[in-house]
Amino acid sequence: MKQKKTSILVCLIVAATLFQYCSKSDAVSDTGNQITTGTATSTLGLPQLPATSFNYSNIALPTHISSALPGCDNTPLSNLITNDGATLGRVLFYDKNLSKNNTVSCGSCHKQTLSFSDSAVKSKGFAGGSTARHSMQLLNVRFYRSGKMFWDERSNTLEDQVLQPIQNTTEMGMTLAEMQTKISALSYYPALFQKAFGTTEINTDKISRALAQFVRSIVTYQSKYDQVKQGLATFTADELAGETFFTTAGNRTCAGCHAPPMFITSDPVAPFGLADATDAGINNQNRFKSGSLRNIANTAPYFHNGSVASLQTMLAGNIPAHSVAPQNVQRLLSFLQTLTDVTVVSDIKYSDPFNKN
Ligand code: HEC
Ligand code: HEC
Repeated sequence: MKQKKTSILVCLIVAATLFQYCSKSDAVSDTGNQITTGTATSTLGLPQLPATSFNYSNIALPTHISSALPGCDNTPLSNLITNDGATLGRVLFYDKNLSKNNTVSCGSCHKQTLSFSDSAVKSKGFAGGSTARHSMQLLNVRFYRSGKMFWDERSNTLEDQVLQPIQNTTEMGMTLAEMQTKISALSYYPALFQKAFGTTEINTDKISRALAQFVRSIVTYQSKYDQVKQGLATFTADELAGETFFTTAGNRTCAGCHAPPMFITSDPVAPFGLADATDAGINNQNRFKSGSLRNIANTAPYFHNGSVASLQTMLAGNIPAHSVAPQNVQRLLSFLQTLTDVTVVSDIKYSDPFNKN
């Protein structure tokens, strides 16, 4: 009798668990095009987020970095990073619903494992077309003083930039109005907007601000270079010779244009040339922006057109200001490799929340 009761109980528990399991998977299944605001489910699943948001807003940079950065931060007072704002930005960054046919997200062309760049010379957009230029890595975008974005600096702010790929006819192929309607209809967004902005109302301006907050939160400060600067590690002889060359050799030092500690400049003054007959860059003056050289060993291929396959090719070739005497090639390579921060390429707070591994 007692045994029978127990087995009934076990059956009930199993049934309840199964029911729960089924209703859970219902929540992520495709139910077609319900367009009631905030209730439509996505074929792409639900984002998996931590109960307490990750820290994006208060990253403690070591002194050798923080002391060098006043005046370099392009964060506007009107869009300071908050943990909930960047969390929403993370979801949007990885949401393929931002593209016309749900195939491409920002993360498709800016892959975390590749320091938010792409190994393809030209990236593939939603319909398989190729981008006009090589994708850019997104590390330390926040510290590009002028705040201008793209290889040709055609966007004046990051808030403006993040809306461009959505409307680009090759990249994501949507109008802002279409995108806003689509995002507004998805079940998981109202709560995320409520947390980030204090209201469930969804609009393009908030989408832009959240995306910009997430991109600005991606900073690196945990490479070997940083350990050396904090007295926690030492350079090898080659690395040290490479650093010396980088900062002091020649009439145009590498550091003059790629300034430590973020190896970034806001002033692409010299119309120096990787010859490119088809692309004249900033104001058609054969000038191009260069983002941060941090994690550069992880972001091949290089330059605005992705035409330089490796750092070795660049240093040993004949590109003005970028090719060096044979004895300096290995030294510079060794030094540039010390700029690699493996934390930022695996940190879960920057990862795809739709990835259910
Ligand atoms: C189909 C590929 C593709 C997609 C999708 C894409 N990007 Fe990009 N991204 C690029 C390319 C290519 C460039 C360089 C374009 C240029 O300079 O003309 C770029 C440049 C950028 C830059 C400029 C970085 C700098 O230092 O100036 C930022 C920021 C950026 N993308 C963020 C995003 C965000 C946010 C999204 C999603 C809303 C996104 N991208 C979607 C390919 C893509
Ligand atoms: C006169 C300024 C200047 C000097 C000097 C200079 N660079 Fe650059 N560098 C740039 C600019 C601008 C770009 C982007 C050019 C482009 O894409 O067409 C760039 C691109 C690069 C890239 C590729 C970046 C990417 O994301 O694809 C690397 C690596 C690099 N530089 C390293 C160096 C090293 C090492 C030195 C010294 C040997 C050096 N640079 C000297 C301005 C300079």
